[in-house]
Amino acid sequence: MGDWYQQLTSHPLGRQATSLLGLPGPAQLRRGDDPPPGPVLAGDAGKGRLGAHLRRVLGDLHLPLRWPGDEATGAAEDDNACLVLDATGLAEPADLLSLHTFFHEPVRRLAPSGRVVVFGGVPAEASSPAERAAQHALTGFVRSLAKELRGGATANLVQVARDAEGGLDSTLRFLLSGRSAFVDAQTIPITRSATDASDRSRPQADRVALVTGAARGIGAAIARTLAADGAHVVLLDLPAQGDRLTESANRLGGSAMQLDITDAAAPTRLADRIAERHGRLDVLVHNAGSTRDKTIAGMDAAAWETVMAVNLSAPLRLTEALLDRELLSPTGRIVAVSSLSGIAGNRGQTNYAASKAGLIGLVDALAGQVGGEATANAVAPGFIETDMTAAMPFALRELGRRLNSLNQGGQPVDVAETVAWLAEPGSGGVNGAVVRVCGQSLLGA
Ligand SMILES: NC(=O)c1ccc[n+]([C@@H]2O[C@H](COP(=O)([O-])OP(=O)(O)OC[C@H]3O[C@@H](n4cnc5c(N)ncnc54)[C@H](O)[C@@H]3O)[C@@H](O)[C@H]2O)c1
Repeated sequence: MGDWYQQLTSHPLGRQATSLLGLPGPAQLRRGDDPPPGPVLAGDAGKGRLGAHLRRVLGDLHLPLRWPGDEATGAAEDDNACLVLDATGLAEPADLLSLHTFFHEPVRRLAPSGRVVVFGGVPAEASSPAERAAQHALTGFVRSLAKELRGGATANLVQVARDAEGGLDSTLRFLLSGRSAFVDAQTIPITRSATDASDRSRPQADRVALVTGAARGIGAAIARTLAADGAHVVLLDLPAQGDRLTESANRLGGSAMQLDITDAAAPTRLADRIAERHGRLDVLVHNAGSTRDKTIAGMDAAAWETVMAVNLSAPLRLTEALLDRELLSPTGRIVAVSSLSGIAGNRGQTNYAASKAGLIGLVDALAGQVGGEATANAVAPGFIETDMTAAMPFALRELGRRLNSLNQGGQPVDVAETVAWLAEPGSGGVNGAVVRVCGQSLLGA
């Protein structure tokens, strides 16, 4: 079932009725590769160290750029579409006033689906308590600003470690684009520089990707997105999903693999198949998931075991088998689909939340283990419009949809695009991160 409230508010009469009642109207989110049309206002809060890098990426995007002190390009009367601030130079609390100076006026006239991206340093790298306080202050600032923005606009913070300045390109491009439509109020760490020789329009060309649970929902969207990015995608799902899987694989020019990932032989079968047909794997997406919701008091052990086996033990065993046989390429990308439940907890989901929190621990360990320029990251979706959420009771579904800053559920493509950004060869700077795709859900915030 679609989002009836969004349909209602997209009609003039419905919009009038809901605004009379003081109810929020969910904005139509702008999706796709491009940033919102309009100028980028960029600036520096103090003596930041990212100026040259930001100018290079923004210059590559060919967007009209307004940088105080420079000659502006683009029409003077246009509303800004993106606000980008280098705040790595904030050295003490008094410097924080520059946030007010930069945002006070322009935030009032930000275009629909506008973008705010603030760059800070890593607080733990600060050289004084004053600098650490100022840098940490950015997290609260960006989270609050995200709640004040309207019209589908988002705000995110990127923390760039020292000497990792060369690793921010793919993340800035992602956050400015419509691919990040449902990623809001996140703090994204860039821990190292990255090399990127890939073709921007087909970043996964000549790469092999495996997506588990790819027959439907979020997994199918991830497979489509990676294929559109140029990857040969191996779509894996249960034998019961065989027909759907084959059809999708054929449509995407990929291949299908029918496998129950909880089978004792699954790791060996998967590693054999990758070794024999492809020789290596560039992108591994652990998406297959299962729920058996009951309070712990009412849950039988089988419900516990099933969820843990699919969501956590299988990703661990499959990854170990591929790493043991050195099948992950040096620019390999592991992305695990966790869940907001794994961060915030959820009544009736002790098994599911434990498995999804466990996945975050797994990614954390793998990030330190994969080596080379390989990475391991997690995405944590909030409320996404899929078969799984369509089956929820009405009141619960409505709560899930509305309790976020964008007042709507995300689409499978929003999770898929976030996975695809982390899977890009150019995203080697992001390692060990957990990125929520939740429109700044109030849960676990
Ligand atoms: N939909 C949401 O709102 C939401 C929110 C947070 C997290 N997630 C997570 O996103 C992922 C995808 O969710 P979805 O909503 O598309 O779910 P879904 O149930 O529609 O799809 C899951 C897929 O995994 C496959 N699968 C299950 N067990 C398997 C096994 N043993 N071996 C191989 N494949 C198996 C299923 O056949 C199915 O095709 C899951 O990990 C889920 O926990 C979803």
